[in-house]
Amino acid sequence: MVASEQLTQTPSVLDVLPDRWQSLRAAGPVGYDDAQGVWRVVGYADVAAVLADPVTYSSDLSPIAPTQQDFEAFRQGNFVGMDPPEHRKLRTLVSQAFTPRVVHGLAPRIEAVCARLLDAVADRDRFDVVDALAYPLPIIVIAELLGVPAGDHRLFQEWASTLFSGDQLGEAPDMADLERALEAIAPTVREMNDYVLGHIRHRRAHPGDDLTSKLLTAEVDGVRLRDQEIVGFVALLLVAGHITTTALLGNALVTFDRHPGTLGVLRDDPGKVPDAVEEVLRWLPPFPELGRRTARPVVLSGHEIPPDSLLMVHLGAANRDPARFTAPEAFDVTRSPNPHLTFGHGIHFCFGAPLARLEARIALNLLLNRFCSIVVPSHDDITFQNPSVIVGVRHLPVEVTRP
Ligand code: HEM
Repeated sequence: MVASEQLTQTPSVLDVLPDRWQSLRAAGPVGYDDAQGVWRVVGYADVAAVLADPVTYSSDLSPIAPTQQDFEAFRQGNFVGMDPPEHRKLRTLVSQAFTPRVVHGLAPRIEAVCARLLDAVADRDRFDVVDALAYPLPIIVIAELLGVPAGDHRLFQEWASTLFSGDQLGEAPDMADLERALEAIAPTVREMNDYVLGHIRHRRAHPGDDLTSKLLTAEVDGVRLRDQEIVGFVALLLVAGHITTTALLGNALVTFDRHPGTLGVLRDDPGKVPDAVEEVLRWLPPFPELGRRTARPVVLSGHEIPPDSLLMVHLGAANRDPARFTAPEAFDVTRSPNPHLTFGHGIHFCFGAPLARLEARIALNLLLNRFCSIVVPSHDDITFQNPSVIVGVRHLPVEVTRP
C-alpha cells in the first residue's frame, strides 16, 4: 500500500492510479475486495449498468455509512445521495433555476473573472497556476451565481478547502477514519449552514437575479423548495462544483505537460479545446470512484451480491476499458466520440457538467491566448489533493513565456 503523503506527490498519482485501475480490471469486471469489505465494479459495461439502475443500486448510503448530526441538515437538498422519486422532485425543482440559458449566460462573466485572475500575475513568469486561476475561478463563479456578496467569497474558499482537506484520511480510510473526518469538519458545516440560511432570508426579503432568488421561487406541481433543502443544495454546489473544476483545470495542465506538444496542437487549432477537455476528463477523473448500496439481492456479471452491500463503482477504470475505448492508455486530444463516465451516468449525471466544461474551455483558451509556452519547471513541486477525497492537482508551479 502506498502512504497518502507519497500519493500526493507527482508522479505517484499519475502513475499509481492508472496501474491500480489496470490491475483492478485484470481481476475481472466485478469482484469482492476482502480487505475493504466492498464490491469493486470496474468494467465499463457493468459500471454503466449499475449507474443506470438507481432502484437496485441506491445512492443513499446512510444505512451502511457513518454519519454526523450536523450533516443531517445538508442531506435534505443534497439530491446526489437520494433515490427516486425524491431525487426527481428535487432535481426537477433546481433545474428550473439552473437552466442551460443561465449557464450559457455566465460565459462573459467567466471570461472576465479568468482575465482578472491572470492580470494579477501579469508581471510574473513563474506562478502557481492552481492558486492563481484553477482554485479561485470556480468558487468565484459559484458564489456570484448564488448572489453571495463579493466580500464573502473568501469564506466560501475557506469552507471548500476545509471540507476537502482530507487531513484525517489515509489512502484507504476505514469507518473510524471517516467518522473522525466528519467530526473534524462539523464546525465548518454548521458555519456554512447558518451563513446560507441567512443568505436565503436576505434574498427572500431582497430578491435579485441570482440562483438563490430563483431557487426560492422555483415550483413544480405547486411544490417549492424548503429553506433547508436550498441549504443542502447550495452545500452540494459548493462541494461538487468547486474543487472538481479546480481539479479538471489543474489535471489538464499537468497532463498536457506530460504529453509535450499538446499545447502546440491546441494553439494551432483552438477548435480542439473541447475534445481535449473531454480527454482530460476521461484520463484523470476527479472522482474516480462512486459509492452505491445494493437495495436488494442482485447478480452482477455472475456474482451474487447481497442486499446492503457497498459497491465502489470505478469510473477511472471504466474510462480505460479496452472493450469500450480504442487504445485506452493513449492520451489523445482528438479522441471523438469520447463516452467517458467521469460525469457519471443515468439519473445522477452531473448537474454541473455544462458549467464545468464551459469554465475549463474558457480558462484554457485564455491561457493559450496569453502565453506562448506553459512549462512545469520542476515536477517535485507539484502536489495533489488527498486522492482518497479527490484526484486533482493542488499546487502546480509553472513557467510561462508571453508573445
Ligand atoms: C453529480 C462529477 C462539476 C454539480 C456528479 C456526479 C459526478 C460528478 C461523477 C455523479 C455522482 C453520482 O452519480 O453519485 C463532476 C466532475 C466535475 C463536476 C468531474 C468537474 C470536472 C460540477 C459542477 C457542479 C456540479 C461545476 C455545479 C455547479 C453536481 C450536482 C450533482 C453532480 C448537483 C448531483 C446530480 C444528481 O444527483 O442528480 N458530478 N462534477 N458538478 N454534480 Fe458534478
